Amino acid sequence: MLSVAILAAGKGTRMESSLPKVLHKISGKSLLQRVINSCVELNPDQIFVITGHKSKEVQESIPENKKIQFIIQDPQLGTGHAIQVLCRAIKKNEGKLLVLNGDVPLIKPGTLNKLLNLHDSKNADISLITTKKKNPQGYGRVFLKGDFIERIVEEKDCNNQERENLLINAGIYCFNWDNLSKIINTLQSNNNQKEIYLTDTVSLLKNSLSLEVEDNGELQGINNRIQLSKCEENVQNSIKEKHMLNGVTFINKASCSISEEAEISKDVTIEANTHIRGRTKINSNCIIGPNTFIENSNVGFHCEISNSTVYDSQIIDHIKIGPYSHIRPNSKISSHSKIGNFVEIKNSQLEEETKVNHLSYIGDSIIGRSTNIGAGTITANFDGQKKYQTKIGKNSSIGANTVFVAPINLGESVTTGAGSVITKDSKDNSLAISRTKQVNIANWKKKKF
Ligand code: UD1
Ligand code: MG
Repeated sequence: MLSVAILAAGKGTRMESSLPKVLHKISGKSLLQRVINSCVELNPDQIFVITGHKSKEVQESIPENKKIQFIIQDPQLGTGHAIQVLCRAIKKNEGKLLVLNGDVPLIKPGTLNKLLNLHDSKNADISLITTKKKNPQGYGRVFLKGDFIERIVEEKDCNNQERENLLINAGIYCFNWDNLSKIINTLQSNNNQKEIYLTDTVSLLKNSLSLEVEDNGELQGINNRIQLSKCEENVQNSIKEKHMLNGVTFINKASCSISEEAEISKDVTIEANTHIRGRTKINSNCIIGPNTFIENSNVGFHCEISNSTVYDSQIIDHIKIGPYSHIRPNSKISSHSKIGNFVEIKNSQLEEETKVNHLSYIGDSIIGRSTNIGAGTITANFDGQKKYQTKIGKNSSIGANTVFVAPINLGESVTTGAGSVITKDSKDNSLAISRTKQVNIANWKKKKF
């Protein structure tokens, strides 16, 4: 029987934030969500998330999962107190209890498995992960006696000599829960922080083991924003390296960010200052960026998107977007189309070979294939209360500065005169024009005052 407890009740004072520490994010996922994702891989029987500070906010951040049970620790008197509260709340303290700090977000399931295996093979009371840090500042120092852990001394309780010890406690423990429950209530808070430390259990339990692992970044604890940024950098580096090995070129890697879920195919070039977020897929031979943001979208083959923003949309193949285009949610731009300078498209479907090259707003529209939308064309889709649709048939030629007052439905091969305000539907092959005729008045001069 394997149970997991995740410690997530603390405020995170050193973050200097109104957001609880475990809700800060690394590459789009909260610290707590990352720890949960890692331990779910171990297929435990139950997961306890211990919350306290802003517990409602923390609990609401976690999607429904039948295995997760929240335990409230209020007030928060330390990591040992958190486990005292858990032991009291749960009747059966049996099997293995894996305790994970909610602020050590990059821990890998493989490393957790190693700990569980060591624990089982040595029939330990407690086994925990340690590592040697060049700069151990802020961590609890682990003191060994032979094969066993003698004690852990928190940084704030260390004397000068103890502080020199580079072997640190990573904040990841496996307990024999039954034996833990027998000593958990004897923990004291007679230390410099006046907290009940979970780390004091090593001296109270008999068989305390250390699993020393190489520090490759996964054991980084997050107590302040410098450490948060370090972890972000680690995650981003590994995401980008994965893509580079798969055939993606980054022109200026450090200025780009890529979500873990993003899929990028071979021979895609990511130019500087480009951010690919959420579930985005970029197919091969695209050039994305510079200065581009794409979220939850699909981009087909051979597309070029520069200096533009794309949200929740489908960009099919051989398409050029930008510079300075904004493709808003629920848009579909079909193959061989071109969306140009200062163009905003929202909730619209553009068929193949459509061109919207300059200074337009196309909202709630369906534009037929091979239609050219002249510069400055606007769909007036909102009457102050409701949004309406604009439909333009294929092979149409929309004059510059046309305003479509929706709802409007134009047939195929329709032309509109430049500067027209179109308020009525028109049939196939027609010209729709609505503007006053130009008058030239001869010999007219401005009066001088
Ligand atoms: C803790 C360890 C330290 C270790 C380090 C690794 C203790 C006493 N110290 O120190 O040895 O090197 O982690 O990162 O455990 N929490 C609660 N309830 C509380 C207090 C804290 O749930 O009453 C939670 C926090 O939300 C956090 C985790 O426990 O997720 C660790 O707490 P934190 O205050 O960050 O401990 P550290 O000082 O980092
Ligand atoms: Mg910490």
